[in-house]
Amino acid sequence: MYICLCNGFTDRDVKSAVASGAQRIANVYETLGAAPQCAKCSVHIRDIIRESAGNGLTAGIRR
Ligand code: FES
Repeated sequence: MYICLCNGFTDRDVKSAVASGAQRIANVYETLGAAPQCAKCSVHIRDIIRESAGNGLTAGIRR
């Protein structure tokens, strides 16, 4: 699913970036060769980072 329409990357792309070591939102953009534009996707990126870190509690509350 596309989560960043400005840069055209998906949740899979973000998960791959996180698996490669990106631990902050800025790291994800950098790893994907992108730059934040409207930054609406940052919430979703943050949630994926948290879920990947095993901190699913916060992300789970929003669902
Ligand atoms: S949706 Fe990602 S920067 Fe706009």
